Amino acid sequence: MVLEVHNLQTHLHLKRGILRAVDGISLSVGEGETLGLVGESGSGKTLTGLSLLRLLPKGSGRIAEGSIKLDGQELTTLSDSAMARDIRGRRIAMIMQDPMTSLNPVFSIGDQVSNPLRNHNIAHGATLRSKVIDVLTQVRIPSAEKRLGDYPHQFSGGQRQRIVAAMAIGCTPRLLVADEPTTALDVTIQVQIIALLRQIQADTGTGIILITHDLGVAASLCHRIAVMYAGRIVETGPVRRIYKSPAHPYTQALLAAIPRLGDKRARLQAIPGQPPSLIDPPTGCRFAPRCPARMDKCAEPPPTVTLADGHEAACWKLA
Ligand SMILES: Nc1ncnc2c1ncn2[C@@H]1O[C@H](COP(=O)(O)OP(=O)(O)OP(=O)(O)O)[C@@H](O)[C@H]1O
Ligand SMILES: [Mg+2]
Repeated sequence: MVLEVHNLQTHLHLKRGILRAVDGISLSVGEGETLGLVGESGSGKTLTGLSLLRLLPKGSGRIAEGSIKLDGQELTTLSDSAMARDIRGRRIAMIMQDPMTSLNPVFSIGDQVSNPLRNHNIAHGATLRSKVIDVLTQVRIPSAEKRLGDYPHQFSGGQRQRIVAAMAIGCTPRLLVADEPTTALDVTIQVQIIALLRQIQADTGTGIILITHDLGVAASLCHRIAVMYAGRIVETGPVRRIYKSPAHPYTQALLAAIPRLGDKRARLQAIPGQPPSLIDPPTGCRFAPRCPARMDKCAEPPPTVTLADGHEAACWKLA
């Protein structure tokens, strides 16, 4: 396994109280595998990704519990300097949700794509320059060699997203966390980014965690899906099983919200109600207040039930 996460708990210590953004999740990613992490806004997807890099909000963010293993090496107990030197940007890279958080407006693209390669001692001098041109060409920046001196604002939104991807793949990481890499992009560029991620994976065997709320994107790119709700994983399984026989009422509701071609319903079936507060969440099943299949038992935490090889869901209905 490239990545094995067990019972990860990430807390944000806020004035309002302790926000349990990631509350006991376990997941794994194999060599050359893509795991889709899907769920509504605020379910803890980005903070899960940031936890893997130990890049949590300064002051408030803390990994409170659990284990993160990369190729068998425990990361939660590693020193900050070892994390920066050997792991972050080198063995685990992240494509951030908003490309401008990864790009500095006052440095040229050439400088910014060079940085991780230089810092991790992958290339220097003329080799570095040609490597930078290589990765920029790989992400389809036209005439890359002429644009090394240009600044982020001189590129389109889609190009900026691809430049961030170039920074992430330059060091051929073992694990790539791609946080909503396509939401801000138009459809043709989305297709290009997806093709690019597939290509990188075929070439290098990199494990990918693709964070998205778009189940269509997840279906086309992922081998397995983990569905997140209010800081927990409620269902996980191979992509075909998740789409054909979703077991958790939340997964079923998410799938029902996808418009299908030829669908005569005038609008999407949104899931009624709001996700719970992560400062003071319900003690039992967190989806219960919105669940059409709610029972009395749901006031207690649901068991995780194995439905088939690699397909699990946490719901009383299945117990
Ligand atoms: N820096 C922060 N300070 C305070 N609360 C935060 C911070 N970052 C995230 N949160 C809260 O933590 C929870 C999880 O946030 P996270 O960004 O991981 O969600 P997400 O699933 O990535 O959502 P989205 O789909 O909108 O990107 C949310 O309740 C969010 O409001
Ligand atoms: Mg997010």
